[in-house]
Amino acid sequence: MNRYYRLHESQGSRGSRDRGNPPATGNRGTEFLAWLEQQQGRQYELHARYLNPAFPKMLQTIGFDKGFVRGEGCYLYDAKDNRYLDLLTGWGVFALGRNHPRVRSILEAVLSARLPNLVRMDCSLLAGLVAEKLTQHTAPDKSQRLTRVFFCNSGTESVEAAIKFARCFTGKQKIIYCDHAFHGLTTGSLSLNGGEFFRERFGELMPGTESVPFNDLAALERALAGKDAAAFFIEPVQGKTCEAAADGYLEGAQNLCRKAGALLVTDEVQCGLGRAGQWFAYQHWPEVEPDIVCVAKALSGGYVPVGAVITTPKIMDAVFNTLERCVVHSNTFGQNDLAMAAALATLTVLEEDGLIENAARLGAYAISELDKIGHECPFVAEVRGKGLMFGIDFRRPEASPKLKAAWDALHALNFGVFGQMVIVPLLREHRILTQVAGYHTEVIKFLPPLTVTKEDLDWFLSAMRQVLEDTLRVPGAAWDTVTTLAKGAMRAYVR
Ligand SMILES: Cc1ncc(COP(=O)(O)O)c(C=O)c1O
Repeated sequence: MNRYYRLHESQGSRGSRDRGNPPATGNRGTEFLAWLEQQQGRQYELHARYLNPAFPKMLQTIGFDKGFVRGEGCYLYDAKDNRYLDLLTGWGVFALGRNHPRVRSILEAVLSARLPNLVRMDCSLLAGLVAEKLTQHTAPDKSQRLTRVFFCNSGTESVEAAIKFARCFTGKQKIIYCDHAFHGLTTGSLSLNGGEFFRERFGELMPGTESVPFNDLAALERALAGKDAAAFFIEPVQGKTCEAAADGYLEGAQNLCRKAGALLVTDEVQCGLGRAGQWFAYQHWPEVEPDIVCVAKALSGGYVPVGAVITTPKIMDAVFNTLERCVVHSNTFGQNDLAMAAALATLTVLEEDGLIENAARLGAYAISELDKIGHECPFVAEVRGKGLMFGIDFRRPEASPKLKAAWDALHALNFGVFGQMVIVPLLREHRILTQVAGYHTEVIKFLPPLTVTKEDLDWFLSAMRQVLEDTLRVPGAAWDTVTTLAKGAMRAYVR
């Protein structure tokens, strides 16, 4: 029995806990952790009272209120020390797994070193070193142009910066984006969101945007025809659908953009930094060299929020074109020492541990094995993705009247709830954490840590085989569960 469980057992009711302030004297770190441990179990009540109550309610409804107490590598642990395989990785930030020892020890060293940090009227050594290392992977030879970096604090901020840079450099307004795209939820990046769900009820967004279908060069050509576009933004592997750019598409898009005087921006916030089996997903196609690349998530090492825009000297110099304008686009916390140290440590671990190769090799294994399993289930439309970013898409099973009727009845209650029939038993019966990929899609996405092993993937694959088999039992326990959820109109969707 682990220490958390003993604590729960001995604590009795919540009322008996010390709800006072964290200790301020003595050995503060140790006392703080002891105090924090005493508070365990209050999270749902606190969120319901002080944060967004809809969120804990959703978790409780689908049985995802596990109250994880510890994370290590590819695994999460609950209070009884049960081990769960984490295929959600905090929406993609734990590329190295949780609490990676080398990243942690560098962060501890930086904290102890009392560095000056965020002087602002000085240049951060750490930021320079991260930029140097990042651009070794975007411009490994001298003919390549992605050699400048702008740091910020999140994925959406990197997209906002890219929008501004593209408009400033080209002097044009229009931004083209893809159907089903996800680039973040601040007002600019939300204007490039390829689905209505996130946009509706938030008023007028940024003007001058236009969407095109993904993987459709003819549509992109039409959108660029007026030569009035500043940029085309694209996720080389879409987060919401797990659809990857088709061979030739990004190259074609690049040619069309160049002809029309528009920039090609790849949003690699999710699919970059090894996840898709290359340092950057666009590098699957050697002819492609975007004008701007956005990254975030994994760069944090799972510790400190960070984002970065990697671009060319020409674009960077056009934005920061005079000494007076040298901070015309900036932010307070970008380049902070902890974020930069986490980023440097993360890039080093990715390099030294061969994690890009691991993502390519084990991603190909997982996708092909899942595809075989999917072929045996008539609800499965497609298994797709690249590297360790892959998903399974469900559909109405046309060939079986019984399964089709069950599908229709469920969808009449609540569209897109079918995925719950997979993610709920994956967690409940197989201790695997996943989530459906988006509102009004039938896709479940898997984002294992890049440190995942074949054994972990076999655990996942055998669970998927069983869960998909259960969907064929109509009537059956899986359908009962999901029908109850559908009636409650509760869904657990990723952003
Ligand atoms: C492709 C892509 N771009 C941008 C974002 C926004 O990143 P953040 O949540 O850090 O703002 C996300 C987040 O999921 C993403 O997947």
